[in-house]
Amino acid sequence: MNIEELKKDFPLLENNEITYLDSGATAQKPNQIIKAIEEFYEKYNANPHRGAYSLSMEATEVYEETRTKISKFINAKNREEIIFSKNATESLNLIAYSYGMENLKKDDEVVISIMEHHSNLVPWQKVTKSTESNLKYMYINDDFELSDEEIESKITDRTKIVGITHVSNVTGTINNVKKIVKYAHKKGAIVIIDASQSIPHMKIDVQDLDADFLVFSGHKMLAPLGIGVLYGKRELLNKMSPFLMGGDMIEYVYEQETTFAPLPNKFEAGTQNVEGVIGLGAAIDYIESLGYDKIQEIEKYIVSYARQELSKLDFITLYLTSNEEKHSGVISFNINGVHPHDVASILDSEGVCVRSGNHCAQPLMRFLGIDSTCRASFYFYNTKEDVDKLVVALNKAYNMFKKYIVR
Ligand code: ALA
Repeated sequence: MNIEELKKDFPLLENNEITYLDSGATAQKPNQIIKAIEEFYEKYNANPHRGAYSLSMEATEVYEETRTKISKFINAKNREEIIFSKNATESLNLIAYSYGMENLKKDDEVVISIMEHHSNLVPWQKVTKSTESNLKYMYINDDFELSDEEIESKITDRTKIVGITHVSNVTGTINNVKKIVKYAHKKGAIVIIDASQSIPHMKIDVQDLDADFLVFSGHKMLAPLGIGVLYGKRELLNKMSPFLMGGDMIEYVYEQETTFAPLPNKFEAGTQNVEGVIGLGAAIDYIESLGYDKIQEIEKYIVSYARQELSKLDFITLYLTSNEEKHSGVISFNINGVHPHDVASILDSEGVCVRSGNHCAQPLMRFLGIDSTCRASFYFYNTKEDVDKLVVALNKAYNMFKKYIVR
């Protein structure tokens, strides 16, 4: 199957005016997923767990079958270790407010990397302040990587929680999360992995990683917006208090007291995003039928071509590791002396969609001594022509702005 054929699955990409290079923000959706959602509304729309009639039971069945599908997809030991959420952000807040608030004591330490998205950073500021514990950072080296020395000097016997992104949404660095988990466990800490930018591109095996918690959003891996997953080891989830309270997460409710439902319902209050769950199930089917090997083969080729072509442009700075093996499909760059929003606007006039800004990673920007970047992010439906269009548009932007650049 060639990429042009694959691209036909994606209605939006049929529009030749658009060069979509923002899959790190959200992936385009193939027909198979759009149809699965349509079918749900046309044939079995009902509220799962709420009705004794067959339509509701059918909706419940598909909803729960998808939970099983996800648990197999990431190799969880138990299906009730999969909790549906709104997105990775909500999953991370759940862990911070429930596990973090209940387990952190004065002077304990939470260690995260400077690469974290605000969603794996701001909740820890709040929780460490409330528990009088401390928030510490692992910083990257000049090659945009976390060194072993940095990891081992920051994770200590005082560390109780480590939060780490699998792949940085700014630099594309692939962190050696397996090694971090092993080291953190030796020190007695639990580890939360943010797999939002990795699961669209690579196989995740929570047992192999020995992750205590792992989160991701569906929309970056072809599924609809508004559906996320929290994986947690059963023994940890069982001990945690619910985060949101309401319908379907209870066992018995009295006027003053409530007992809670067992996993996974304990963490799924209120009517859920069933179309999102169904779309996520269809996204997993799509990824499995294409295969991660194929996805990686295509992406390796495209990303390596993009690295090569962008590094020929002497007017831009790239923020990425020199080690291609440790780099995923995200490339941040700046035209020296030109604001990224201006660059992105010119690229847009050529139909090239990139993200510009701080990418919800302000502490990382500050650490790098910049306030924002442009970011091109690739997925398996991107082609060499997309990279060529990016390069042409960048040359156009540079030529427009070069007379204003102060050196
Ligand atoms: N977190 C998403 C990104 O990095 C939205 O673009």
